[in-house]
Amino acid sequence: MPRIAYVDGAYLPHADAAIHIEDRGNQFADAVYEVWAVRAGGLLDLPGHLKRLRRSLGELRIAVPMSDAALTLVLHEIVRCNRLRNGLIYLQISRGVAPRDHAFPTPAALPTVIITAKRTDLAAAEAKAARGIGVITLPDIRWGRRDIKTVSLLPNALAKQAAKEAGAGEAWMIDPDGTITEGSSSNAWIVTPDHVLVTRAASNSILNGITRLAVIDAASGEKLAFEERAFTRDEALAAKEAFVTSASAHVTSVVTIDGLKVGDGKPGPVAMGLRKAYLSAARQNSVALHHRAAGPLVARKAKRRIP
Ligand code: PDD
Repeated sequence: MPRIAYVDGAYLPHADAAIHIEDRGNQFADAVYEVWAVRAGGLLDLPGHLKRLRRSLGELRIAVPMSDAALTLVLHEIVRCNRLRNGLIYLQISRGVAPRDHAFPTPAALPTVIITAKRTDLAAAEAKAARGIGVITLPDIRWGRRDIKTVSLLPNALAKQAAKEAGAGEAWMIDPDGTITEGSSSNAWIVTPDHVLVTRAASNSILNGITRLAVIDAASGEKLAFEERAFTRDEALAAKEAFVTSASAHVTSVVTIDGLKVGDGKPGPVAMGLRKAYLSAARQNSVALHHRAAGPLVARKAKRRIP
């Protein structure tokens, strides 16, 4: 069955879905995004991601293109028409299409909304979580507003590529003061030798992960001591455990840093316990879908004013 994408009101075969060449997301990375995990057909942490999406739009003064209720319907429709059980939903909203000019267009353009779906191989994802991943460290060369989830991801992409070339699964980025900010697409955590869970506090230096927030909740349920503070590579290397959180990795143990073992070099009980607790809470709260048969797909061209 063909993959279906959403572009500005139209549900289209993935291969035919396209946006205009003068979209500001394309020219200026003037766009924000969100990623939801789908498990058993339900969207995990739906309200948290919607809330952060609104915040990102507000920080960049991009108009909110549709209500949360309407967006929720569209997200569910994309899950349904792709018959997605386990996977990821990607949503991107740009400031819209306008002749290239750094300043915002006047009058304002209509924001461009695109949504795509991707399947996850659940067995492969679980096997990866059971093995854990290695991380490398490198300087954080990003801008000063990492709290906004923009598509300006070139430093992140370069960091992930460096990790891949080193045979690692993630790159942890280090600020000039020597503290780890976060991963290229995940938040960074450690468990100290005296059993305290530590992750960096939310600020402009990191993306405040929705999984991060849910794991903080899960940790309070498990009665784990918890501190929000920065930590260094040395502290992480001396930690009992380390792990990352994100919509796609959930909670995944870090077993090496720059090739050096963390703890005994295996996924630890705290990270594995939090992964289980997170997934069970997230699935319980996940927004259920109406399982109706997929109707005929009406493909139509997106209507948009091309300047
Ligand atoms: N990445 N930090 C960065 C830089 C990220 O890109 C992400 C998410 C996170 C974790 O956020 P959350 O828990 O809300 O997924 C932290 C997504 C998954 C991505 O870019 O694909």
